[in-house]
Amino acid sequence: MTNRNYMTCTVVVGGFYGDEGKGKLIAYLAQKDKISVAVRGGVGPNAGHTFAQNGIKYKVRMLPSAGLNLSTKLFIGPGVLVDPTILQTEIKTFNSQDRTFVDRNCAIIEKKHIEKDSSLNHLAQKVGTTGTGTGPANADRALRIAKIAKEIPELAVYLKDVSEAINKALENNENILAEGTQGTYLSLYYGDYPYVTSKDVTASAICSDVGIGPKSVDEVLVVFKSYVTRVGQGPLNNEITSEQTGSRGWQEFGSVTGRQRRAAPFDLNLAKKAIQLNSATQLAVTKLDILFPECAGMRDYAKLPDKAKQFIENIENETRKPVTIIGTGEDLTEVIDRRRHT
Ligand code: IMP
Ligand code: MG
Repeated sequence: MTNRNYMTCTVVVGGFYGDEGKGKLIAYLAQKDKISVAVRGGVGPNAGHTFAQNGIKYKVRMLPSAGLNLSTKLFIGPGVLVDPTILQTEIKTFNSQDRTFVDRNCAIIEKKHIEKDSSLNHLAQKVGTTGTGTGPANADRALRIAKIAKEIPELAVYLKDVSEAINKALENNENILAEGTQGTYLSLYYGDYPYVTSKDVTASAICSDVGIGPKSVDEVLVVFKSYVTRVGQGPLNNEITSEQTGSRGWQEFGSVTGRQRRAAPFDLNLAKKAIQLNSATQLAVTKLDILFPECAGMRDYAKLPDKAKQFIENIENETRKPVTIIGTGEDLTEVIDRRRHT
């Protein structure tokens, strides 16, 4: 990785089942790298990305996680499903009316989609969806009966040709961050069907969602958590019991649904395959402080306890990819940044 191109165009995706901590990473990178363009790909408001600054927690389900950085423009790519009500609330929270742009072709989630998602036994019980209407809306999109953003008057002020804007920013050598949602193993193609989300969510899909061609990407940052969690149904290798989850401090609740997440130890096999599927150039590992409480809030790799270093170095040795960013706490500044330019 060269210094010059270092953060020109980066795609960030999850390497497990979502909830790896992408939101916090994006929020950090937006500030640290003075990202001028953040664009959200992925499915839609079924993902809740969280980040915290100075003790205040934020959650976004529609906007990119870069809203705290006031100079970052916030885009939503055409592949993403938009729930206008959720979007409007978030735009208010971040006071981002003037820097939010929605692609004209984003398909719209309507009430009927949400009702279907939570009433159909197959979706609500068997798959265990988030109930946010994304599957039924994508189904209508495939049938070409879904509404799109340009038909919705309340979105008129935000409409934009997002791929055009992103590619212009690329030409101008601006720093661009494309934010994926969910995780590699929730992909409709690469996860455990039918226990998956309603489309592909690997790096290639995120590029397609926002209109970036494969050769325009400089870095693919795959985010792993230091343990694995999964919400909803479907296989989870080496799953531990809910009591063990509690005693290890791995207990988590879904940020969209409030459901308790199932948990398992870090899975190198899943990590290796995720690296392959996403053509990762670098890795992030979040929540190292949950695995090793002594690491809480640390920003200097050299000061980590040996066992924490061994955990990171084992991942690097096994995957042959550098772990460049490590999360050590909730605040977006609680990271160890091992990238060369810092
Ligand atoms: P859907 O995407 O709401 O249709 O849900 C399909 C499956 O993906 C369910 O197991 C959900 O729990 C899971 N899922 C969808 N989005 C996320 C996410 O952002 N984080 C974690 N799990 C998710
Ligand atoms: Mg989440």
